[in-house]
Amino acid sequence: MNHFDYKDDALWCEGVSLTALAEAVGTPFYVYSSATLERHYRVFREALDHFPRLGGPLIAYAVKANSNLSVLATLGRLGAGADTVSEGEIRRALAAGIPAARIVYSGVGKTAAELAFALKVGVDQINVESEPELALLSTLAGEHGARPGVVIRVNPDVGAGGHAKISTGTRESKFGVSLAEAERLYALAAGDRHIKALGVGCHIGSQITDMAPLSRAFGLMRGLVERLRGKGLSIERLDLGGGLGVPYFNQPDPPTPADFAAMADAAVGGLNVELAFEPGRVIAANAGVLVARVIHVHQRPEGRRFLVLDAAMNDLIRPAMYDAYHDIRPVAPRSGPLEPYDVVGPVCETGDTFTRDRLLPPLESGDLVAFMSAGAYGAVMSSEYNTRPLIPEVLVKGDDWAVVRPRPSYQAMLSREPAAPWLSSSFTAAT
Ligand code: LLP
Repeated sequence: MNHFDYKDDALWCEGVSLTALAEAVGTPFYVYSSATLERHYRVFREALDHFPRLGGPLIAYAVKANSNLSVLATLGRLGAGADTVSEGEIRRALAAGIPAARIVYSGVGKTAAELAFALKVGVDQINVESEPELALLSTLAGEHGARPGVVIRVNPDVGAGGHAKISTGTRESKFGVSLAEAERLYALAAGDRHIKALGVGCHIGSQITDMAPLSRAFGLMRGLVERLRGKGLSIERLDLGGGLGVPYFNQPDPPTPADFAAMADAAVGGLNVELAFEPGRVIAANAGVLVARVIHVHQRPEGRRFLVLDAAMNDLIRPAMYDAYHDIRPVAPRSGPLEPYDVVGPVCETGDTFTRDRLLPPLESGDLVAFMSAGAYGAVMSSEYNTRPLIPEVLVKGDDWAVVRPRPSYQAMLSREPAAPWLSSSFTAAT
């Protein structure tokens, strides 16, 4: 469920008309619903709380899905933690008021400087993905007089996820260590006086709509915990990652958080560990849309009909990168028959095609359309390709709204690039 609904034949976000918002902030822009973000977090949390054997786990929202500071603060106020993958994301989580005690730091390539920063601010859990990383962390911890909590990230060799590029849990992918290696590394960590060995974790992919691979991976993790305990090692924490899929409208409805929780309970309930989860998409995707304006409709006499928008692949890369499907809805639909459109942006490559032959009601130059389910992996993956300014992000709460990332001016964009001294005479003041 989300809070984007038609009222008086036009699309609203909670109590705010998207037509009015487009006039106020200009297009294209992202808009997020506080009520949907809050609802998704609560539904996920309550689903897990209904299974006491899962023990009120840490829900570390995956910051990468949507890292806007106001989005993070909205979730942080409800008690969410943060799953982070860079110093920048740790800084964002802290800036949004999420305490270090609820921050998890993951990723295959953490630099010494980033790890040192995590130690300095006291991040609660560092997910270590390889032996060299464990060695580096141990050395840094010794130098800093810190004793970080460590979880060994396991690659359980279970494939899952909506696209090959977002499947992370197979042997061939770069993430984590095998189950056998995890036993060896965990014993190393447990014997290291600079490290507080907390437990083990996994994350096998994203946009997962089938519970079977998750259940298999969680079962393998349970076996690992039991084997490690059998060796006399203590395991306090089991991090089960994120990955739950969302409906993008072209697929059957994916399992709900309640289905997910029931599966987790069956797989790892009663293990007597603190659990951690790292949901991203399921919290943020349907809490946001991208609103764009039709520049023109280009009907080729010999065939194709192009809907040319002012949003492009640099604003929403998912269709170009993963062949992802996003529902496209006119903000104020006109009546008339559905016709096939190729929906494209202004960027100079054919990859800048959001979809082909999409059936849509009549559209004209100046109309607004909304890309649904764009709240996760939308704005965060945008770029300034073709020197297109990053588009604004707006957060709605009831009848109220605020621009939570403004559109930069061209002058601000150009002035980020100082002239090489030997070229400065060629530069004119940015306009
Ligand atoms: N934890 C870890 C270690 C992850 O790598 C990820 C996502 C998550 C949690 C959150 O997964 P989620 O609950 O959102 O599925 N850009 C792609 C998705 C990449 C996901 C990367 N890792 C897309 O637009 O589909």
